Amino acid sequence: MADGYQPSIEQTLDRDCTTLSRHVLQQLHSFGPEAQDLSTLMNRIALAGKLIARRLSRAGLVENALGFTGQTNVQGEAVKKMDIFANDVFISVFKQSGLVCRLASEEMEKPYYIPENCPIGRYTLLYDPIDGSSNVDINLNVGSIFAIRRQTGDDLDQSASDLLENGRNQLAAGYILYGPTTVLVYSIGHGVHAFTLDPSLGEFILASENIRVPDHGPNYSVNEGNFWQWEDSIRDYIRYVHRHEGYSLRYSGALVGDFHRILMQGGVFLYPGTVKNPEGKLRLLYESSPLAFLIEQAGGLASTGTEPILDVIPGELHQRTPLVIGSREDVDLVTSFIQERIHEQKSLTAPRRDPKGTA
Ligand code: AHG
Ligand code: MN
Ligand code: MN
Repeated sequence: MADGYQPSIEQTLDRDCTTLSRHVLQQLHSFGPEAQDLSTLMNRIALAGKLIARRLSRAGLVENALGFTGQTNVQGEAVKKMDIFANDVFISVFKQSGLVCRLASEEMEKPYYIPENCPIGRYTLLYDPIDGSSNVDINLNVGSIFAIRRQTGDDLDQSASDLLENGRNQLAAGYILYGPTTVLVYSIGHGVHAFTLDPSLGEFILASENIRVPDHGPNYSVNEGNFWQWEDSIRDYIRYVHRHEGYSLRYSGALVGDFHRILMQGGVFLYPGTVKNPEGKLRLLYESSPLAFLIEQAGGLASTGTEPILDVIPGELHQRTPLVIGSREDVDLVTSFIQERIHEQKSLTAPRRDPKGTA
């Protein structure tokens, strides 16, 4: 190491033994039932991550791993075989867990119930099984996004209406990034921590603890191909970036990868609404809210452009939201352009004051 510091064998071993499940218990300073539950839940999510990483690493060699299924999902998007595989992996790892009664994913119209868990399973998993699935067939990074919420009520009519709550109710959130290494980043409301999958051990090992997103960073991440479909405010922001030094455009087509860069290096990711789709593309419960939970825990911000993502109460499970997420100063800059246009609009539509003050 540059400063000459060499960790002792004991320190190295200690780090290597900090697995995900142990880390959860350490964070909660408890071996109580809730801490045990969260530790087991994270362990199962880690198992799902390992199974998906294994399939992705051999995708070009095994039958039926790549390509489309020919179906479309509830949002009208073409479904890939890997989306279905990953969706089913999460269901399988929670069977017989006694913990999770329902799983809700962007690939399923209605939540999936595991009846044998329901009498005692007080948690719900919300997830995007494969995020960035257009990258699967070309061997680029993809991810999985997850959140755990406590089930409130018995949900006997299986309406899952208790999930229509704001994102501050999430107990845990995170993602798995399948890149050159497989990385799992999570928070249970005590900071944000990253684990790297050590394939020789088959375990996620602690890599960085208490990650803080820089207050400002050089990266802006957005699909500029949508420029002419955006509202003026977003175009104003992009023009500002083009006219100022120090910005780099980084966009991979997978939110998890773009978000990970911003978390580590600073900057902003945006997927704004368009004139045709004012709510944008990203799903509140499976994508925006879990990442908003993480970024706030890391000292950053997540906004729809007009309100914090974590304050949004969804009207339905598959609701979409515009998303502006990342470093505090960069998110503030984007939202300042939005506010400016809102004020401009208000002053144009406000009734003119009678100069004599009689109206
Ligand atoms: P998903 O693969 O889960 O449908 O998500 C894709 C999302 C997100 O990962 C990415 O940032 C964005 O869609 C890319 O969309 P565009 O191709 O419209 O830029
Ligand atoms: Mn996605
Ligand atoms: Mn997806």
